[in-house]
Amino acid sequence: MPKLTWICVLLTLCVFSFTACFGARDDSSSSMAPSSSSGMMSDAMSDASGAMSDAKSGMSGAMSDAKSAVSGAMSDVRSNASSMMDNATSSMSNAMSDASKAAAAEAESEWALRLVSAESPLPEGFSVETRAIPGYENREFDVRAADALEAMLRDAEAAGCKLYLVSAYRSVERQDALFRRKTAAFMEEGFPQEEAEKQAARYVARPGTSEHNLGLAADIVSANWYASNTDLTTAFADTQHYEWLREHCAEYGFIERYPEGKEGVTGVTYEPWHFRYVGKEAAEAIMSGGSTLEEYLAA
Ligand code: DAL
Ligand code: ZN
Repeated sequence: MPKLTWICVLLTLCVFSFTACFGARDDSSSSMAPSSSSGMMSDAMSDASGAMSDAKSGMSGAMSDAKSAVSGAMSDVRSNASSMMDNATSSMSNAMSDASKAAAAEAESEWALRLVSAESPLPEGFSVETRAIPGYENREFDVRAADALEAMLRDAEAAGCKLYLVSAYRSVERQDALFRRKTAAFMEEGFPQEEAEKQAARYVARPGTSEHNLGLAADIVSANWYASNTDLTTAFADTQHYEWLREHCAEYGFIERYPEGKEGVTGVTYEPWHFRYVGKEAAEAIMSGGSTLEEYLAA
């Protein structure tokens, strides 16, 4: 073959090879495109799926947190409401208790502090509910103060001072009989009737003006003293039983009603045996102040 022909053949071969080479590259590159696009989609899908999963997980977490927060808040609300109800119930209960105590104290000041004397007689037809004092015959006391009287007698005995209840509630008729008897005694001493009655009233109240008619007075002496004395006299003041009564009567709501040196106030001579229920508050004030019911009520 001539030299020129060889050169042409070689050139042709080179061009062919070059084309084949770069054409293949282009083909491979173009044939790679779909494969690469599919991977990105897959990645995108995977990313989207991951994001969805993350979002779901986030939402689930948020929902869980929200539910937990709501549940906690509900629990707090329930707990606070319950606590508020408890407080309200407790406050209402305290208020009712205070109100009933105040009402009881107010009611007691009505009946227990009632002044009965020559100047303050009981109203016509007055009546009181009484009950018997156990261990005695015909000894009755206002039902509202009978427990206090019993407690005082019981505690005195426990302290070694056995007492005796000589007289408690008296009907107006019984008081009338006692007043007439005392009046008769003064008349026997030579007093005219009117003066005899006046003198008698210093010792025995006229019917309807006695605290015994009220049901809140108790004549009390020591059991052994009563056994050896037929009458109530101021000699009872020399006993330890009287000392116990004076020291402790206020704890039970009683006062020594006709103290020594107070006849000008009470109109009644010294009666160390006559105790009157007035309620604890008034009793403490009267006994610690050495005063009388009249002075207490006037203050
Ligand atoms: N001894 C008192 C004053 C009365 O009879 O009530
Ligand atoms: Zn009396």
